[in-house]
Amino acid sequence: MAQNQKKLFIKTWGCQMNVYDSNKMADILMPLGYKPVDAPDDADFIILNTCHIREKATEKVFSELGRMKPHKQRKQEQGNKALIAVAGCVAQAEGDYIMERAPYVDMVFGPQTYHELPEMVAKTIGAYGKSRIVNTELSTDNKFDKLPEEAQSQGVSAFLSVQEGCDKFCTFCVVPYTRGAEYSRPPEQILEEARRMVANGVREITLLGQNVNAYHGDDENGKTWGLGRLIRELAEFDALERIRYTTSHPRDMDDELIAAHGDVEKLMPFLHLPVQSGSDRILKLMNRKHTADDYRRIIDRLRDVRPDLALSSDFIVGFPGESEDDHQATLKLVEDIGYTFCYSFAYSPRPGTPGANMGGMVHKDIASRRLQELQGLLNKQQVEFNKNTIGMTLPILLDRKGSRDGQMHGRSPFMQSTHVQADERLYGQIVNVKIEKAFANSVSGTIVTADGVILSNAA
Ligand code: SAH
Ligand code: SF4
Ligand code: F3S
Repeated sequence: MAQNQKKLFIKTWGCQMNVYDSNKMADILMPLGYKPVDAPDDADFIILNTCHIREKATEKVFSELGRMKPHKQRKQEQGNKALIAVAGCVAQAEGDYIMERAPYVDMVFGPQTYHELPEMVAKTIGAYGKSRIVNTELSTDNKFDKLPEEAQSQGVSAFLSVQEGCDKFCTFCVVPYTRGAEYSRPPEQILEEARRMVANGVREITLLGQNVNAYHGDDENGKTWGLGRLIRELAEFDALERIRYTTSHPRDMDDELIAAHGDVEKLMPFLHLPVQSGSDRILKLMNRKHTADDYRRIIDRLRDVRPDLALSSDFIVGFPGESEDDHQATLKLVEDIGYTFCYSFAYSPRPGTPGANMGGMVHKDIASRRLQELQGLLNKQQVEFNKNTIGMTLPILLDRKGSRDGQMHGRSPFMQSTHVQADERLYGQIVNVKIEKAFANSVSGTIVTADGVILSNAA
């Protein structure tokens, strides 16, 4: 590593938006001489990009900070400067508290401030030891205009942020407070970023947003594009093979987007559409503004146009006031829909959200029993789904080396993790794989040619 090069260690929690942001932070710090490294040991700059969605996440940040402190001390003893920063949603929500509780933290900055990183670093290093920075500005100018072009390769499958923030205010959720109001990037800017990504070898793009299907970007002619239109335009890029998007809200599944699932071949047959609960009473208390049957109808419409669509969702059990009947309604909805894989959580009251003051808190033991029941059912569906793909030949995008020798990992159109014996040179290719074995979290198989002939030494 060159003399003037400094080591940057970023640890990321939370959603894909944070993963995307961490890459952007590395990109913006690169011209300042920071090079990403995989371990904090000798780092000159440590950034914890945090998530505030559930209680334990905050505590995790503080214990992680405790682990980072000795690295900074060691550097200091060697006469070097090392910076520790907290970014992301915990930074946004708990900025001052972090500064108070962890005096060795140099910088705290929220998700809307990353484009100001060079200035913030200059200020902190300049006044090293004297000045600490808290920057939790939410309504800055459009940070996307100021962020640099991608400097690092994201691999063959990459995220592209199209929308940020949330105006929905579900009563359990901190996101509208940590990420601010909904904002959609202009379509031209997104297409330009996609063009560069594809030119750099990206073959699958996942469009990101806290409410990605609420996307409504105005183009240069003042026309508003929805997500369906954006997906159609992206599908025109020849070298781009696959398009996905996440996370979406049932209320924003409009006609154009549903139609895209039917006729845009590159849009993969997998959709993460969180429903949270199957009880109308709880959905109302959660301020989701749709019923369980509204959700069923949306799924019916999607499956009408794309019968093999695989579905995933998020669930919360033990929301304040949740009765046994409400819980049963959730299990019923899961039975009715049939999911491939889901995330489920016990409700965690978040300070400042309406849910935290609702009363009727469900006892911890009851919530964990309900969570177990729900997860039992979801796991059963997941295994079933994987088993049902045995015997199918699926196009798998090989995106990294597998854990075993001679093995590659890839994703099926349904997002299944797939392991296959394959030469590393096939990285980035889409190969036809006959699925032979199904496990709880993955499948495996053998590469075949398009007409089903097994390639003994696939390379
Ligand atoms: N924008 C997405 C969700 C973002 S948060 C949507 O609208 O669905 C990701 C998931 O975390 C949520 O879907 C929810 O299931 C879970 N979650 C959010 N707040 C929570 C809380 N207070 N307690 C438990 N789980 C929560
Ligand atoms: Fe949170 Fe609801 Fe917004 Fe999703 S839609 S980010 S759950 S407030
Ligand atoms: Fe977490 Fe913030 Fe994402 S709270 S889920 S990192 S938007």
